[in-house]
Amino acid sequence: MNFAKGMSRRSVLTAGAVAGASVFVPTRFAIGNTAKVKVGFLLPYSGTYAALGEAITNGFKMALAEQGGKLGGREIQFIAVDDESNPAKGPENTNKLVTGENVDFVVGPVHSGVALGMVKVVRESGTITIIANAGAGAATGPLCAPNVFRTSFTNWQDAYPMGKVAVDRGLKNVVTMTWKYAAGEEAVGGFEANLIKSGGKVVKQILVPFPQEEFQAHLTEIASLKPDGVFVFFAGSGALKFVKDYAAAGLKSIPLMGSGFLTDGVLKDQGAAAEGVLTTLHYADALDTVENRSFRAAYKRAFAKEADVYAVQGYDSAQLLMDGMSAVKGDTGAKDALIAAMEKTVIKSPRGTFTLSKAHNPVQDIYLRQVKNGQEVVLGVAEKALADPATGCKL
Ligand code: PHB
Repeated sequence: MNFAKGMSRRSVLTAGAVAGASVFVPTRFAIGNTAKVKVGFLLPYSGTYAALGEAITNGFKMALAEQGGKLGGREIQFIAVDDESNPAKGPENTNKLVTGENVDFVVGPVHSGVALGMVKVVRESGTITIIANAGAGAATGPLCAPNVFRTSFTNWQDAYPMGKVAVDRGLKNVVTMTWKYAAGEEAVGGFEANLIKSGGKVVKQILVPFPQEEFQAHLTEIASLKPDGVFVFFAGSGALKFVKDYAAAGLKSIPLMGSGFLTDGVLKDQGAAAEGVLTTLHYADALDTVENRSFRAAYKRAFAKEADVYAVQGYDSAQLLMDGMSAVKGDTGAKDALIAAMEKTVIKSPRGTFTLSKAHNPVQDIYLRQVKNGQEVVLGVAEKALADPATGCKL
């Protein structure tokens, strides 16, 4: 069931029929609604974030397969566009799905810059959209819309709690470093705000262009600045490389912190270099709950690899859509009722149960994690039921 593998740009995948699924008899609505539901993925299947797009796709399809492979009783057609994590192509790629394919739903993207372009299009078209990763605050802030939901996090939400953790651990003078784009700047900004509020100080903020992975000169500078700690936002292959380079530069004596994307999905490949890395995130592989254990086992069986936070977000995006579509019995025309049902959802996620805020963001626990003996250990909950302030959203 390796769904994403071998998927070419704009390839069309169709959900397999599931034996034993009940036959859906449409009664309430027009014949058009008996057609397949079109779900468009706007995700990276190439570049720095390729593995993230694949994990979201896998998690999404796994959740559906577990529930009979349908949405509100209707078969599903998937259409996938490789967004290449390229913000400049965000609107155009979104339009391929919205106008070109006339999809019922959009799911994606990973990159915050792509999300901002996407939101501009779907606010106009009214297409119900689930942001399955990108943490851009504006998408559920000033640009929020009734038809735009998020099942992931905001960049602020996963980083803010670490500011206080750092000071509590005596790491007061901190260098921050990230890619220069919305996700990195919002994550680092959230961390810095709480660091300063808690009595700490930003020694220097270092920004590098996305998706550059040449960190050496900056690591040399960090060594000379001798901070108490370093906080970074990197993800995907950039996170893998940064953590390895940090260790290779001999900086392991300076505690390394980040949003959990720094190690999630790449921990195994980081090996000993990741030892001790301290992160905050809305998920952790090791969460000892029935939902997480069974999710991880099923994912491993299906895809022969470990699940990560991105797979969880894909899984929960499908849960949200299934909730909405079963409430309206597959009638995508009943948009208000569909949106109302999605707003009321209570998702039993592998991350823990969460609900959605008024701005359509998850209200969720943020875990404090640390790599110990190659394992991501959960040290506790850094902030319980944390909601993004969603400043500027009028819903
Ligand atoms: C983002 O661009 O919002 C982003 C990308 C990768 C992550 C987290 C956030 O792991």
